[in-house]
Amino acid sequence: MRRARLHFAGIEIEFVDRDRALKQIEELAERGTWRVYIVYGPEGCGKTALLRQAKEVLEKDFDYYVVYVNPIAEKVDETLRFTPTIKDVVREVLNLFPSPYSAIVDVAISIASRVLKRFSRPRLAVLMDDVFQAVGVDKAEIYVKTLLNLIEYPPASYEKIVVLVSSSEGLTRRKVGRHRWAELLTLWNMPRKGFYQLYEFLPREKPLFEDVWRWTGGNPKALEELYRNGWSVERVVNKVILGRDLTYTFTKRWREHLEKAVEDPDYLWYGLDEVEELVRELVERNLIVYHLPPRNYDYWIDQPPPEKDPELGIGRYVAWQTPLHREAVRRALGNDSVFG
Ligand SMILES: Nc1ncnc2c1ncn2[C@@H]1O[C@H](COP(=O)(O)OP(=O)(O)OP(=O)(O)O)[C@@H](O)[C@H]1O
Ligand SMILES: [Mg+2]
Repeated sequence: MRRARLHFAGIEIEFVDRDRALKQIEELAERGTWRVYIVYGPEGCGKTALLRQAKEVLEKDFDYYVVYVNPIAEKVDETLRFTPTIKDVVREVLNLFPSPYSAIVDVAISIASRVLKRFSRPRLAVLMDDVFQAVGVDKAEIYVKTLLNLIEYPPASYEKIVVLVSSSEGLTRRKVGRHRWAELLTLWNMPRKGFYQLYEFLPREKPLFEDVWRWTGGNPKALEELYRNGWSVERVVNKVILGRDLTYTFTKRWREHLEKAVEDPDYLWYGLDEVEELVRELVERNLIVYHLPPRNYDYWIDQPPPEKDPELGIGRYVAWQTPLHREAVRRALGNDSVFG
């Protein structure tokens, strides 16, 4: 199978592992999606990488016209990607928008409907990476509905259509997930074997794999962060504390509950009404994933995490996004590290 070329820690590498996800993408390519598929997962778990890989496979192995959009890409030329044969359509649409990158999601939808009209019964894929963050929680539903309309009431007939949207936005999950038109698939951090391959790409003088696994729980972005920070767990954890605004007031207010959640994230699931607001805060700050689906394969893209892994902070219903996130809370509370 073809592999997308990706950048990881400043190195150009090929997409690794995720064998089950690749099979699932092939299945989607073969039959098309009749709903909008939303890939949801912890920050940095590999959603963008997966969508890039999907683009590669859909375009090259399955002859789809692909429109991929990422409104918050670090580089502007990564914001909008498309199959070269539709470049005229793309140019026409871009000319209609005064500032294309502010309205990039509308641009992508517009390109998609023109592709349907321009080509005879095409295969079309629309891949939207991290759009909820860009359009905002309020508009997430409207955009998903617009995408569904493209599937259900296309401006011209198509052979197959695949619509994938990715998000790490915990708050939008409920809003979007409650509709019949969205199919939610959760992507977890990488399984050990694949994560080891990424670890192997990094140059030597690195900590033992066991330690890296214990700190990151298989999250590739966390691995990248550690590497870029000279493997200083302390620095990375401090960045999380600052970035998620884990202030004295916040930890003071929620101390009792946070201490229990650090020991066992499922405490937040079984906790009383009084933790509801805390849960919201932790989801909004991208520290936990709340309401993990059953580990039944249907709900997951790629391998689900284990039922429970206390060492990595994974509970049955609630998980810390990575052990580093849990560690940040622990340190903000002024408690001893478990990392040693
Ligand atoms: N299967 C993979 N093979 C190779 N590299 C990967 C894979 N998954 C993730 N990466 C790399 O790990 C890093 C983090 O992944 P990525 O950016 O895809 O995560 P994300 O879930 O999109 O993050 P965010 O929530 O910040 O959008 C990137 O450098 C990416 O290229
Ligand atoms: Mg991403």
